[in-house]
Amino acid sequence: MIKKKFSTSSKIWMERNRKDLYVINSRRFKFRSRSWFKLDEIQKMDNILCCGMTVVDLGSSPGGWSQYSSNKVSNKGRVIAFDILPMHPIKNVYFINGDFFDRSCVKKLLEKIGNNKVQAVISDMLPNISGVNEIDIPKIMLMSNLVLDFCCSILIRNGNLILKTFQNKECKNFLEKVKSKFSFVKIRKPNASRKESKEIYVVAKKKYN
Ligand SMILES: C[S@@+](CC[C@H](N)C(=O)[O-])C[C@H]1O[C@@H](n2cnc3c(N)ncnc32)[C@H](O)[C@@H]1O
Repeated sequence: MIKKKFSTSSKIWMERNRKDLYVINSRRFKFRSRSWFKLDEIQKMDNILCCGMTVVDLGSSPGGWSQYSSNKVSNKGRVIAFDILPMHPIKNVYFINGDFFDRSCVKKLLEKIGNNKVQAVISDMLPNISGVNEIDIPKIMLMSNLVLDFCCSILIRNGNLILKTFQNKECKNFLEKVKSKFSFVKIRKPNASRKESKEIYVVAKKKYN
């Protein structure tokens, strides 16, 4: 038998996952990711997704949020998912493989949305992080701003948004921008989000015009 060698950080990661209740339960219930539980917590607090909605899921792979949304919107609604990584098919979810920083990929997404109304955008997307704040923060804030602009261009009036970003010194300005576009804005840190992670979820409802 060939024994695989793992680095110390991989071993720590595997050991943490082995004990993580969200990981255990996502396997048990066949959810694609532990992120499923984060969306579930936000949905229970803020009621973002409803039956019949069209939802755009940005950074969808491996598909936990798409699974969750597809179930919520039922066959009366639809989910359009987008990720730079591939994703195995999910019933009632149309998947587009592309990079959000690439205009031609975003164009494909816009073409798929067409003239249809989008009631919710959910974005769990974050760029790859190097661990160096000076590099990461501008990249994260660029993505957060692009997602916000994109979502404002496709959402109906009164539409909803969930957007993952990172707590950092640039966040205040970003939140002001979100508040200028939506009448309800909250920051959520679900229990399923690891305490040591700086990720936060901006929940915004009731988009102005
Ligand atoms: C935390 S994961 C999403 C997990 C997903 N919500 C779920 O429940 O399974 C973040 C995703 O963002 C995607 N992503 C990161 N940068 C991207 C980009 N530039 N364009 C498209 N997707 C991107 C990653 O490939 C990754 O799958």
